[in-house]
Amino acid sequence: MSRAPEPSEVLLLGPGPSPVPPEVTRALAAPLLGHLDPEFIALMDRVKRQLRDVFGTRAEFTLPISGTGSAGMEASLTNLLEPGDRAVIGVHGVFGARMVDCARRLGAEVAVVEAPFGEALDSDAVRRAALAGPTRLVAFVHAETSTGVLQPTDGIVAAARDAGALVLADCVTSLGGVPVDVDAAGFDAAFSGTQKCLSVPPGLAPLTFGPRAMERVAARRAPPPSWYLDVAMLAGYWREGVQRAYHHTAPVAMVYALARGLDLVLDEGLAARWERHRQAAALLYAGLDELGLRCVVAPALRLPQLTTVAVPDGVDAEVVRRRLRDEHRIEIGGGLGAMKGRVWRIGLMGHGARPDVVRRLLAALRDVLAA
Ligand SMILES: Cc1ncc(COP(=O)(O)O)c(C=O)c1O
Repeated sequence: MSRAPEPSEVLLLGPGPSPVPPEVTRALAAPLLGHLDPEFIALMDRVKRQLRDVFGTRAEFTLPISGTGSAGMEASLTNLLEPGDRAVIGVHGVFGARMVDCARRLGAEVAVVEAPFGEALDSDAVRRAALAGPTRLVAFVHAETSTGVLQPTDGIVAAARDAGALVLADCVTSLGGVPVDVDAAGFDAAFSGTQKCLSVPPGLAPLTFGPRAMERVAARRAPPPSWYLDVAMLAGYWREGVQRAYHHTAPVAMVYALARGLDLVLDEGLAARWERHRQAAALLYAGLDELGLRCVVAPALRLPQLTTVAVPDGVDAEVVRRRLRDEHRIEIGGGLGAMKGRVWRIGLMGHGARPDVVRRLLAALRDVLAA
């Protein structure tokens, strides 16, 4: 009988997925429970509490959407926007452009505020756009994985408030790697993914909707066009302390994995985890400098968990990536969009943000570049 091949062991130092700790892998193999089993329901409640702690929010509607980070994006925009609503969306990389595409498909009128790839959005430009018409939503990417930029948020949130708009933040790559603090930052809604700094396989999208976002959901003229991602229906399935209303079958094993991954995040402590990411990045920057390689993003805007490195003249970016994969069993990312062929993207995310990992990567890069 033919069998699917065993996947190779590859050290994942690209833009995601990130390395998964053995405890999380073991959780995936635990005995399956029914998705309405009381034990599983207790675990769902626990995961909601853990996600609130990790997001830094008290919002009741905080849960993992079934699907990858993009499902979190789609759930957010689908529930917060209605046809004809005006949305201001920041684009400073590939993932902002995806939100624009998604919002337009929903019939929203989208005003795009752009910044060059590798730079941050200008909050004054966001303010001008938000005040230029009655604006329902201001959305932006907190950690642009396509460029390695950490977007400052205060000015954008203040601009949205002054315009009477809701704030949505894509925290797919930021959550667990740098401070997110949804309530303190003033985000009304935020989504993430399991496969970046939480170090859980891809498959769930943590999502939180605060009180203003839930008021918007309740005030909609019509239900959202997606049945699967309908926040009001999902709230019925995930509501604590009352009879669950079956909506869809939760991916039980992925919820086990997320629960264990969040245990590890909270045991370590968020502040210690952010500091570990920062230190791993500092070690990487020093090693890249020794190799004569240049980081693209200015130090003040750099994401510790994702570093874009300029490919030196005369070097074929793809050949280097292939040799790292084939000879050293290490994955790094290539450039996306406007940065294709011009940069490598090195992810030190979650379980991958460790000094021994950085040293192994630098040794492998030195070897491949010397060749
Ligand atoms: C910032 C950002 N947003 C959204 C996504 C989409 O997530 P997924 O690929 O898990 O659907 C990604 C994935 O890399 C991302 O980095």
